[in-house]
Amino acid sequence: MDRRNFISSSLIAGGSALLARRGFAGQASPSPEQIPGAVPDSRIDSARFPDGFLWGMASAAYQVEGAWNIDGKGESNWDRFAHTVGRIKGAATGDIACDQYHRYPEDIAILKRLNQKSYRFSTSWARIQPSGTGPANQKGIDHYSRLTDALLEAGIRPFCTIYHWDLPQGLEDRGGWPNRDLAAYYADYAGLLAKHLGDRITTWAPFNMPWTFTYYGYGIGVFPPGRADFSQFLKAAHTVNLAQGEAFRAIKAASSRATVGSAYGMAPAYPKTASEADRAATARYHAMNNLYFLNPAIHGEYPRAFVGDPPYEAMGYRPGDDKIMKVPLDWIGFHYYTRRVVSAAQGSFEPGTAGHFGTETEGEGGSSARDPLTRIHVEMPTEGPLTEAGLEIWPTGIYDLVTQISREYNHPIIEISENGCCYLDSPDETGRVPDARRIAFHRQILAELARAIADGARVRAYHAWSLVDNFEWADGYTQRYGLTYVDFRSQKRTIKDSGLWYGRVAATNRLNV
Ligand code: FCB
Repeated sequence: MDRRNFISSSLIAGGSALLARRGFAGQASPSPEQIPGAVPDSRIDSARFPDGFLWGMASAAYQVEGAWNIDGKGESNWDRFAHTVGRIKGAATGDIACDQYHRYPEDIAILKRLNQKSYRFSTSWARIQPSGTGPANQKGIDHYSRLTDALLEAGIRPFCTIYHWDLPQGLEDRGGWPNRDLAAYYADYAGLLAKHLGDRITTWAPFNMPWTFTYYGYGIGVFPPGRADFSQFLKAAHTVNLAQGEAFRAIKAASSRATVGSAYGMAPAYPKTASEADRAATARYHAMNNLYFLNPAIHGEYPRAFVGDPPYEAMGYRPGDDKIMKVPLDWIGFHYYTRRVVSAAQGSFEPGTAGHFGTETEGEGGSSARDPLTRIHVEMPTEGPLTEAGLEIWPTGIYDLVTQISREYNHPIIEISENGCCYLDSPDETGRVPDARRIAFHRQILAELARAIADGARVRAYHAWSLVDNFEWADGYTQRYGLTYVDFRSQKRTIKDSGLWYGRVAATNRLNV
């Protein structure tokens, strides 16, 4: 069965199962025990979150702001990419997106109404430094200053991601992230933000999903600048590790109240077979996809992601870089969407065989390696039901991931910086958005997160992706992750049933609400 057919059939299976249980479909009701990976209702009913738990929602500048050329903002790599024919589904752009640049008071009112305690947003570098270097653009600073004040006034913690993939085009033109000079430019930008906003923002994450934008942008070319060269990925990733260390110091120097963490993309990985080779490949996946930016910060060294030694020369590694990369992150933030199954690659690396699927990348073409140096073959399993982005729902994955990171990094403070699902539900004739499948998704994942906390993990926050439906990168507006529906013609917002449910969760610290 090809992937697309498989997805539609399993969606129908998973979706109708949920509807049937709610009595809409008039079919036999499978119990949660019959849905692979599902969490039993009893565990959901008994789940509790600690007092003071930070319930939040997340977004990213390019995905929601619009106002792409207003108030002195420079062009970003995503502006350029989206304005290039053939790059984004439906020729969509983020020129207007959710217009949050102008409508942030309305969006903050939704957060407040839903009892949220944390809003994770990102700043656009090209609003602050239009070409990537030089003095701050005051209008850009003023915008984020107003946003911050409005959040604080609503009793919501501002959580600032400094870089969520939109690079000033001026810096892409200087070679982008493979150019080591970007580490210093980035630290300058981070320092400017902390200087102007650090009296009010105390929670900073330097990079969103650094593996994704370096690998997609420079390794396989499905994100800007569209380059497909593994050695460019290695260089870009190393610059980002240096930048993370330099930014940590710049932020702390500018603001004594700052705490600096992360917003890494992570996926728990399971070996395809119990063989030694598959277990070793799974460990390499974990090192490359989950720890490649965490371990250099905490320990000043790269994790064991490669068959053999790290390719230091190709990475552009210089003596002393370990000291630049090493910084004591105050807390560790990461996203969870879905899991992976990993095996040792049998076939050789075939450039261009990696596929881009939803927000993820996987090797296609039998068992060939995703890249020449890690020699892993990565699969997105389809045992559990799939969301409408084709990602498998596997609630236990968050338990496994959180407890693994807790063990490996000496029980750090953890924030879940993103978790969510794509379903395309839209307003019904009464104006309601009955997105029962999204509620079911969050109930299950959160029950497993509560179990990790009960078992000792120090998780203090969870951010649902996303506050509003938005521009989903190369997929344009074809995917909806919001807990609030957006009509992109009128910009009208409608809180979905999932948003109302999540608001009750935030008020009670329980899931059966
Ligand atoms: C994550 C990204 C976020 C959004 C969600 C669906 O990978 O950080 O911007 O696209 O996926």
